[in-house]
Amino acid sequence: MGTTVITGGTDGIGRALADRYLERGHDVLIVGTSAEKGEAFLAAAERRGAGDRARFLRADLSRVAENHRVIAEITRGYPAVDLLVLGARFHRSTRAETPDGLESNFALYYLSRHLLSHGLIAPLSRAERAVVLNFGGSGQAGPVRWNDLQLRHGYPGTGALGHGGALCDLLGVHFARLHADTPVHYVLNHPGVVSTSFAGEYDPATAAAVDRLKATGKPVTEAIAQIQPFLDEPPARLTAVLEGRQVPTDGQAFDPADAARLHEMTERLLADLPR
Ligand SMILES: NC(=O)c1ccc[n+]([C@@H]2O[C@H](COP(=O)([O-])OP(=O)(O)OC[C@H]3O[C@@H](n4cnc5c(N)ncnc54)[C@H](OP(=O)(O)O)[C@@H]3O)[C@@H](O)[C@H]2O)c1
Repeated sequence: MGTTVITGGTDGIGRALADRYLERGHDVLIVGTSAEKGEAFLAAAERRGAGDRARFLRADLSRVAENHRVIAEITRGYPAVDLLVLGARFHRSTRAETPDGLESNFALYYLSRHLLSHGLIAPLSRAERAVVLNFGGSGQAGPVRWNDLQLRHGYPGTGALGHGGALCDLLGVHFARLHADTPVHYVLNHPGVVSTSFAGEYDPATAAAVDRLKATGKPVTEAIAQIQPFLDEPPARLTAVLEGRQVPTDGQAFDPADAARLHEMTERLLADLPR
């Protein structure tokens, strides 16, 4: 029936998509850090008679090496991947670095998605038609801080997520160009405010703001209903969606030269890191 891989599949929109694709008969692999949430997904799948199609991989995707491990496990475990959902995020009000020495949002929100998108091109290409769903900015984020991708100067708090979203938009643009000869479609999605776990570590003011977002955000079921048609029938090789509406991808946020520049900078950064 198909294979779906979901980072951030243990919670929020990712978990709801995991349940949806299990229902549709897919093999579903979710990735997250919480063993407890992963076990809860497996137990729920078992209760629904889909235990043999559900899998949980525990990994900290803010670490470069962990992304390589996940890519290797997926490539070994599944002949093809039909849907790859890139939804892991963890926000911090205060700037923090991963053990690789990278700013944490940059590492999880952008770099992991760069690694997984390109690193899984082989199994994605073996699907009849594959879709990568990346929760980017869909043109609403930015501008990119070209001289400070690691947000060392004037860390923008919640704005760090927006910065990651802008980088993900450019990732989608370059991916679609680089892999134009494959059956892989790239969908960028900004779902608007959705009531989820909002995984993160927040200072008191941000925590209060996050509580308000949780109280007023749309339910995950609505967020999924808005994106589902674009996953079923992606209208273009690169599609950007904002709360269920397709938005143009010819603006500054999707500039192909910027996308190529970011790709090159990212590859150079990765070349300097230990695998
Ligand atoms: N909710 C909104 O209002 C909203 C608005 C705009 C965009 N989005 C985007 O939509 C996507 C899904 O968001 P959400 O709100 O549904 O998510 P969420 O409820 O905050 O859950 C975040 C997910 O990321 C996983 N995660 C966190 N740190 C990780 C790490 N180091 N390695 C691997 N996985 C990690 C968590 O798993 P564990 O707990 O197992 O670690 C969890 O499954 C995100 O890209 C988000 O930026 C959401």
